[in-house]
Parts: sequence; C-alpha cells; structure tokens
Amino acid sequence: MYASFKSIGAYIPKEIRTNQWFVDRMDTSDEWITKRTGISERRIASENENTSDLGYEASKIAIKRAQINVEDIDLIICATISPDYLCMPSTACLIAEKLGIRNIMALDISAACTGFVYALQTAQAFIQSGMKKNVLIIGAEKLSSIVDYSDRTTCMLFGDGAGAAIISATEDKSEAIVDIQCSADGSLQDLLLTPGITSAEPSFMQMKGNETFKIAVRTLTSDVQKIMEKNNFKNEDIDLFIPHQANYRIIKAVGDALKFEDEQKVVTVAKYGNTSSASIPMAINDVYESGRLKSGDMMLLDAFGGGLTWGSALLPFSGK
Ligand code: ACO
Repeated sequence: MYASFKSIGAYIPKEIRTNQWFVDRMDTSDEWITKRTGISERRIASENENTSDLGYEASKIAIKRAQINVEDIDLIICATISPDYLCMPSTACLIAEKLGIRNIMALDISAACTGFVYALQTAQAFIQSGMKKNVLIIGAEKLSSIVDYSDRTTCMLFGDGAGAAIISATEDKSEAIVDIQCSADGSLQDLLLTPGITSAEPSFMQMKGNETFKIAVRTLTSDVQKIMEKNNFKNEDIDLFIPHQANYRIIKAVGDALKFEDEQKVVTVAKYGNTSSASIPMAINDVYESGRLKSGDMMLLDAFGGGLTWGSALLPFSGK
C-alpha cells in the first residue's frame, strides 16, 4: 500500500495587517520590513477564532476536495506551535469534535515550521503499515497569540492561518509519495523558543533571527540536495518547489543555490508572512486555487524551524 496526497484546503483569516500597522506602533519602517523580509502584509485571526477554528475551516475544504466523508477519516494529525490549550486537550481533538468525528486517534505534532512535513511523514508511515487509510493532516497557527509585539525584531514576521490535506492509501504507485526526510537537532534549541509557561509569564516566541537565518539557508539547501540525489531527481523533474515561507531572502538564497527557475518556485510570504506549520499547506492551496498546481505535478517541499527541525518531501499531487 502507498500513501498519496489527495487534496488540499486552507483558511485565510480576513483581517489584513499591513507593515503600516507596525510602523504606527514601533521604531521600524515599511522599507526595512520589505527589504529584509519580503513581507508586505499578513493575516490575523479575530479574537474569537482559535487555532482549532482555523484548522477546522481548512479541514472541511480538504475533506470536500478529496471527495470522502468525515466517517472515512481514521487519523487526525495537527501540527501547531500555537495550540488552543498549552497542554491539553490537543488541537487535533478539538478539530475532530468540530468535524463531528469521534472514536479515532487524534494527536498534535510540535515541530514548529517543519510541522506539516512531520505530519506528512507520520501519515505516510501509518498508511504504509496498513494501519490507516485516510489521514487528515493539518498545519494551523494563531501566531498572533504568541508573538511579542514589543519585540520589533520578530513580531513583524508572523501571521495566522491554516492548511489541511488528506493523505490516502492507494495501490497506484504513480500516485505514491516518493520520499520524505525529517530531522532535528536539539543542541540549537535556544535559537527559537517560547520559554514562558505560566499565566504570570506569557508564552511569547523568542528568536535569534540572524543566526537562525544563516542556518536556515544552509540546512534548507543541503536537505534538498540530499533528497534529490537519493532519489535520482533532477531539477527538471520538479514542477513546483514549495519551501517554508519565513523570509523572501531565505527563499531566494535557497532557490538560487539550487538553481530552480522562477516558474518552479512558490512564494507567498509577501501576503501571509511566516505562518509556521501552516505556511507550506497554505502555499500549496494558493497554487492549487490559482490553477498552477495540477494533478500529477511533482512537488518538492522544504521546511525548517524551531527545535531545530527540518524536513523535505518529494511527492506528486494526486488531487483533482
Ligand atoms: N525595523 C527596523 N530595524 C530593525 C528591525 C525592525 N523591525 N528589526 C531589527 N532591526 C535592526 C536591528 O536592530 C539591527 O540593527 P543594528 O545593525 O544597529 O544592530 C539591524 O536591523 C539588522 O538586524 P539583523 O537581525 O542582523 O537583521 P537580519 O537581516 O538578520 O533580518 C530577520 C532579521 C528578518 C529576523 C532575519 O534574520 C530572519 O528572517 N531570520 C530567520 C527567520 C527564520 O527562518 N526562522 C525560522 C523559522 S520560524 C519558526 O520556526 C517559528
């Protein structure tokens, strides 16, 4: 049995927060943010929208597009670093309840911006082992709830949103996920972390941006080189290169080092900012809805985030 990527969906919160919002509140400029990050605006969830609500909306679309019923889903995995509740219940449980699904396994994954790729590999393992048939994977983030808006060096980077996908069992090898590789290195844990865990000490994200930037460029590049070499893939075998959307300069540096053409690169960071685990599925949804992603197209995913964690995936899009 193989695992195939059957559908994609996303939820884009309505409120647009432009760079001017930050200019009005702190010592920064639209020029600095645009030049250093490539970000012009990001989406912000409303006060009464939680991460599970964003994930639920994205899931409904992915389920519909996969042409399955909620009863067909036998596992839910939600990647998030901004869960509704810090410890329990998991955001996956809350999404399951909103979807009206009970009595199946539902769990969260914490792998920061690599979360969606981690969820994808976990789904693949459950399917290839024969244990599950239709897995709902979600990357959902309300990062505005953990961003420190007094820290001008990080707060302008992040936005809210969610993406979801259905990964299904198939006997058709042409639809199969080709390869996924996920890694972690806890020795670099202090580069990106949310240290506070009490109500007296809110859980705000901290990042050593400049150091993280350099490691991100190196790791994202070498990770792609490894997965491409291992599977004997050449650049022309890739239809869409969909990297984590952290900073346009990172995407450009990695894309240039790997010599991908502009038509192959997917870039959404200007309008959504960094949405951590939601960034890759939101980008896949963007190209799907614009007609750029078609059935059978080969996707190359490449992610990097806190942990540190990183991962890449080679897979055809098997949706309609
Ligand atoms: N406005 C104006 N000036 C600023 C701002 C701001 N918002 N923020 C920082 N500066 C200043 C700094 O104080 C510094 O001034 P100095 O030279 O007088 O000391 C100067 O700008 C340069 O700062 P750097 O930190 O060196 O800027 P850099 O070019 O590295 O850009 C950024 C910062 C955008 C954060 C970048 O480092 C980055 O994108 N890092 C990586 C992000 C990433 O990939 N994270 C991993 C995934 S996220 C996750 O897992 C949740």
